[in-house]
Amino acid sequence: MSRKKIVAGNWKMNKTLPEAEALVKSIISGCPEGNEVTKIFFPPSLFIEKISGLVNGKANFHVGAQNCHHLPAGAYTGEVSAAGVASCGAQYVLTGHSERRIYFSESSEELRQKIDVALKNNLSPIYCVGEKINERKTNGYFHAVKKQIEDVIFYLKPDDMKRVVLAYEPVWAIGTGETATPDQAQEMHAFMRLAVAEKFGPEMAANTSILYGGSCNAGNAKELFSCPDVDGGLIGGASLKADEFLMIINSF
Ligand code: 13P
Repeated sequence: MSRKKIVAGNWKMNKTLPEAEALVKSIISGCPEGNEVTKIFFPPSLFIEKISGLVNGKANFHVGAQNCHHLPAGAYTGEVSAAGVASCGAQYVLTGHSERRIYFSESSEELRQKIDVALKNNLSPIYCVGEKINERKTNGYFHAVKKQIEDVIFYLKPDDMKRVVLAYEPVWAIGTGETATPDQAQEMHAFMRLAVAEKFGPEMAANTSILYGGSCNAGNAKELFSCPDVDGGLIGGASLKADEFLMIINSF
């Protein structure tokens, strides 16, 4: 089994450039020498190049884009392309985040295209899935997550799937302070890994990193990361403070 342990910080629409640089510098300088966790910063797109310069040459630090357009290029005012963010140093891209599904009505078809265009530009997609509160309450959460997985990543070729990271982010836990319990997270992560195994085989499933996101912080990361199928976290609010993010990195 060779799957990576990953802690990723999704800064969303937060930070100015000087604040972003200060945050990254503090995290890099506070990170213990030889730390093997893969650490990825997802700043707003306009800071990618600067942050990429700061992490360049720093072992196990990377930068990703929070989004890219599903088409390669064209007349889409205000959008950013996969090729564009890759040329600024991004190595990963978030896809399927619930905020994009909900506020920007991203469809499964668009997400398939987004993952395709990302892979063509050497970006590794982190594909996010997660149920809404009503789906949790009515026991529809396995069905909801399975559908998001089937509709978007089951069409991938195995060589492409190898480059995908999955993230379970229950919508009811994002930014609410309400975290999935370790049992709830483990149950869903095991279910997702089984879905990958059924489609792509047990080796692919064993090698796919599955991150947990949703009010993950320095106080609960250790318990969540100790679950056998939780390979790290996709952190929102708690990734905006260096000391808290460093504690999360040290929670394995
Ligand atoms: P919070 O950690 O702020 O709940 O956000 C999680 C998230 O959406 C990460 O992508």
